[in-house]
This record gives sequence, C-alpha cells and structure tokens, in this order.
Amino acid sequence: MQGKSVLLIIGGGIAAFKALLLARLLGQAGVKVTSILTRGGSEFITPLSVAGLTKQKCYTDLFDLTDEAEMGHIELSRAADLVVCAPATADLLGKVANGLADDLASTVLLATDKKVLFAPAMNVRMWTHPSVQRNVRQLKEDGALFVGPTEGEMACGEFGPGRLSDPENIVRAINDALSRDTTLPVAAASSLAPSGAMAGKHVLVTAGPTKEPLDPVRYIANRSSGKQGYAIAEACAGMGARVTLVSGPTHLPSPVGVDTIRVETARQMMTACEEALPADAAIMCAAVSDYRPDIETEHKIKKERGGLTAIGLAENPDILRTVAQLELGRPKLVVGFAAETDDVVSHAEVKRRRKGCDWIVANDVSPGTEAMGGDNNSVILLSDDGEEVWDHMPKAAVARRLAERVAEVIG
Ligand code: CTP
Repeated sequence: MQGKSVLLIIGGGIAAFKALLLARLLGQAGVKVTSILTRGGSEFITPLSVAGLTKQKCYTDLFDLTDEAEMGHIELSRAADLVVCAPATADLLGKVANGLADDLASTVLLATDKKVLFAPAMNVRMWTHPSVQRNVRQLKEDGALFVGPTEGEMACGEFGPGRLSDPENIVRAINDALSRDTTLPVAAASSLAPSGAMAGKHVLVTAGPTKEPLDPVRYIANRSSGKQGYAIAEACAGMGARVTLVSGPTHLPSPVGVDTIRVETARQMMTACEEALPADAAIMCAAVSDYRPDIETEHKIKKERGGLTAIGLAENPDILRTVAQLELGRPKLVVGFAAETDDVVSHAEVKRRRKGCDWIVANDVSPGTEAMGGDNNSVILLSDDGEEVWDHMPKAAVARRLAERVAEVIG
C-alpha cells in the first residue's frame, strides 16, 4: 500500500468518527489520503479534524466553487488509485446505483475512472430494506467493491447487520483492492459487460486453509495450498461470473477479475462469506479448521511460566453447512469438497447429506497422491444423480470442468 493514494469519501452517520481512525491507519501504512466530507458527514466530524489527520485538504461542498480553480471534480475523482466510501450511507449508495449526482461526493463517485470500495453503515432496517439491497446488488454488478457491514449492537440500540466494518478490516479490503488493477476502462459500459456462460451470475468460492491462533506466534493450520479453489475462482470468472473468493492464508496471487477477500480464521471466513452473499452458486473448497484453541493469549506462551501441556479446543462454525442450510437466500447450487484418506466415496456421500450441499467433490488426499499442495487432482463428483469419476488431471482442468457443470445449473 506504501506510496498509493486513496480518495476517502466520508458520508453522514454516527460511524463517521471511525473514518478518522481509518484515515490514521492508512496514513500509518504510507497511503496518501485525500478526503471529501459530505454535508451529512460534517454533522458528525469536521473537515479540520480530517485534514489534520490526513495532512491533505478535506473537500466539502462548501469549498467546492473555490476549489474548482485548484482541483476540479473530475481530476479529484481520478487522482487517487482507489475511491473508498466510508461510511457509505443508504443515500450515497442509492445515488450512485441510480446515476444521481447532486453534490460533490456523488459527482465524484460517478466521474471516477477508478474502482470504488463501499463500507456501508446504517440502521439494520435500512440495510435490509429491499430498495437498499437492490441498490447494493446493482452496484456490485457494476463492479463496485464492498466491505461489511457487520452485525452487532448499533448506536440506535437495535441489533443486526448495519455496523461499519472495523477500520482494520476496511484497511485489509483496501490493501486487497490496491493489489489489483483499480482502473475502470473508459468504455466501461460496453467493455465491462461480462459475456460467457456465467455472465450476470455471482459465484462465491472459499479456498485455502485457515489459521487458528493460540498466541501471537503460534497457530493451528493445515496443508491446503489453495490452488484448487483459486483455479475454480479463475475458471468461473473466465466464464463471465462475478466471483468473490474468500481465501485463507496462501501464497497465491488473486486471480484476474476476481474479488479476493483474505481472512485468517474460520470465523472470519464465515463472516466474509455471509457478507458476500447473495450468490447464485457457492463452491466451498477451503480446508477450514474444524476447531480452534479455546484460548488465545495476548503474549507468547512461555515455558518458564508454566508453558502448555494441553490445548483445549472450541468448535468452529461449519461454513458449508451454514450456507447449504440457509432458509433465506440459499445459493441455487452449493458445492462442497471432501478431502478423505480412506473410504473416499462413502465418507464423502455421508458428508454431502449431513451438510445439505447439492454436490460434493470427493478427493483422495492420502499420502502419495500429492493432491494436497500438488498441481493435479483426481476427483469424484457426487450428487443426487450418483457418482461421476473424473480422470486424474491438472487442478486447472478440474476447475474448468466443474465451472462448466455449475454453469449448466445456474447459467
Ligand atoms: N467446511 C466448512 N467449514 C468447516 C469445515 C468444513 O465450510 N468448519 C467445508 C469445506 O470447505 C469442505 C467441506 O466442508 O467443502 C468438507 O470439509 P471437511 O473438512 O472434509 O469436512 P468435515 O466436516 O470437517 O469432516 P471431517 O473433518 O470429519 O472429515
């Protein structure tokens, strides 16, 4: 992120004060932050406090006219590498989703040639209102990125989704967005229109291992490389789908054209998946740790202070099962993976039924198969129609074949 620049648009709402922390974190990471404070935002924080923290001018409608000589709307909207809107209000989302521009913030949001990352924050009933959800879907279809909102107690006393994502989380999403090409082509409307068998569809993919911390230096994890999941995300994007890849820690770069959300733990992966829904298909490829240490110490566990003779475990959420058993908003097709070392088919079929997913891709990961971490895979696709044995092939080929099959169902 060092050396990059962000245009931070701060909307109105009690969460506006968290934008100050976000600006500070970005500054500490070496990011240049220019800002726009909306009229609503300036009811909660002042342009002076934002400018003080960012060491850059904070633009408002008030200074709009004088600034036109200094830096016009268009230039302001394009000078940064990424536009971040935090908190994004229902009003701002609605304006951009519908092409309205009646103030500096909304004008810049439409005029920009860069990707926009929205971090919404609003009352739970507002967030779940069908019109707001429709606007969010539209913005996602138009290529906007989202982080949050999260669930919890709100300033208004109600409980539910609508809280601004933690500034640290927003920084992570900004980092991810900046690691990819953030420029929108000029002829966005025509050249961005996806084509292919999955055009207009949203696919959620999980990949990689999870890391479950014990103390600041130790964790429980597994040997998953993430290769198969990343290949699936890439194959679906290649077929025109909008793909959200929720990935545990891997060394792999984000596949081209895929929104990659990087997480560490199973619980973070669960939250990121919930935030990414709705989706037409969910393909859960991650090797999620079933358990996490039931303690996480702030400081390193030291031998001389008694050390550690046993690790108590707490159960992690089962992401596949949760998504497969959603009563509202279940993806049309939910696909799980079953990495087994013995009785591969029978164990996988039991897993498919237990978790409630439509298909399960079973593979033998016993030592010697080199499926774990390797570039090839031998899989058996299990569904209500029975079992289908696929030849031993590269993971990229497994991914393409699976994506074609998924497209037949959701396309
Ligand atoms: N999975 C998940 N969340 C978990 C555990 C697993 O989403 N907490 C998903 C995986 O992404 C995979 C499928 O469930 O798609 C099967 O994972 P696996 O670890 O093989 O299943 P488990 O239920 O953990 O069964 P076991 O470890 O007993 O074989």
